[in-house]
Amino acid sequence: MTHPTHPFDALMDITARPKKVFVRGDGSWLWDATGKRYLDFIQGWAVNCLGHSPSCVAEAIATQVKTLITASPAYYNAASLKLAKALIDHSCFDQVFFANSGAEANEGAIKLARKYGALHRNGAFEIITLEGGFHGRTLATMSASGKRAFEPLFEPKVKGFPKARLNDLASVRELINNNTVAVMLEPIQGEAGVWPATDQFLKELRALTEEHGLLLILDEIQTGMGRTGKLFHYEHAEIAPDVMTLGKGIGGGAPLAALLATEQASCFEHGDQGGTFNGNALMCAAGLAVLDEVGRPEFLKSVADSGLLLESELQRLSARHGLGEVRGRGLLLALDLKLPIGAALVAQALEAGLLLNSPQPDTLRFIPALNVTRDEILLMIDQLDTILTKSGAARRVA
Ligand SMILES: Cc1ncc(COP(=O)(O)O)c(C=O)c1O
Repeated sequence: MTHPTHPFDALMDITARPKKVFVRGDGSWLWDATGKRYLDFIQGWAVNCLGHSPSCVAEAIATQVKTLITASPAYYNAASLKLAKALIDHSCFDQVFFANSGAEANEGAIKLARKYGALHRNGAFEIITLEGGFHGRTLATMSASGKRAFEPLFEPKVKGFPKARLNDLASVRELINNNTVAVMLEPIQGEAGVWPATDQFLKELRALTEEHGLLLILDEIQTGMGRTGKLFHYEHAEIAPDVMTLGKGIGGGAPLAALLATEQASCFEHGDQGGTFNGNALMCAAGLAVLDEVGRPEFLKSVADSGLLLESELQRLSARHGLGEVRGRGLLLALDLKLPIGAALVAQALEAGLLLNSPQPDTLRFIPALNVTRDEILLMIDQLDTILTKSGAARRVA
């Protein structure tokens, strides 16, 4: 089959994309317009937590779309009330604000913390975030991020985000002053290359923030909704944050995100926060279908088991090819390549029908569907093994 012609130039050129057009997805598989099939270990950057077009989400959306798409954020709708209640029942939080993207949920968390500072801490507004952190692409969330490549962009940044270091409690403590209102971090820094905060660090951070009356905000946009084998990552560390953001997996591929807060932290007043599409019934119906599935203890156990299998297989591959460590938890894992060959491997994998992600030049990240099968994990390992063998041979010749 020949490639159909596509008007690629009609889209803003915001990133380097292979000239392939994806037309269909099913579970762990994607098809391009030529009919070629790909095993997908990216899943829209950890978005399709139940794989491509899962029937439970498709059916929930199909039913909801025929019933009510949106009433207006000025009115309640049944789906958003049900989803908010279900999220609260599954977590340590008391209230929810729905958003349409992770960045928007984080923007909401930042505003909530500043409001809390205005109400309870004499106007304190600084939020300590971490070097290497990633919180989104709005101006405030880029400013909150500790991504090097963001530093020269879109100056001046939004002020008030001093940066501490991951797993270095003293570096957080040093930054606390009268202007500080919160500490915000990802439990595992995904975009930076899958660098986990230790459970010990999270526990100590909780104690430190409590000691100083600061809010602890966890960005669980990548780690939440079962990704690490618990519904929310904070459960591993046995802590209760004040604020949490969710995105990616919460809609099973549909654009949905959420800001959750404890009763004490939930301090928005009328006019502080809102948005036309926020909490629309259509996306919330998708979220309910996802939570029904992902929230089941047996499902979470299967994610943890698949994560252990993927981790041990990656370790085996690493030993065989002389690569580095395997990092992460559950189905958010990275393989250290020791060399900046990530982009080359991703390109070779694409040609071989495998979708992989390299968030850093020396790192591959694995974020498959949470219901990925054992056979699909072993097939991916097999394909990657072949690619590494070829690229190792190429490196030896060069
Ligand atoms: C931890 C984290 N926070 C925030 C975001 C931003 O989410 P979105 O791209 O939906 O705005 C991402 C996206 O990769 C993320 O990984």
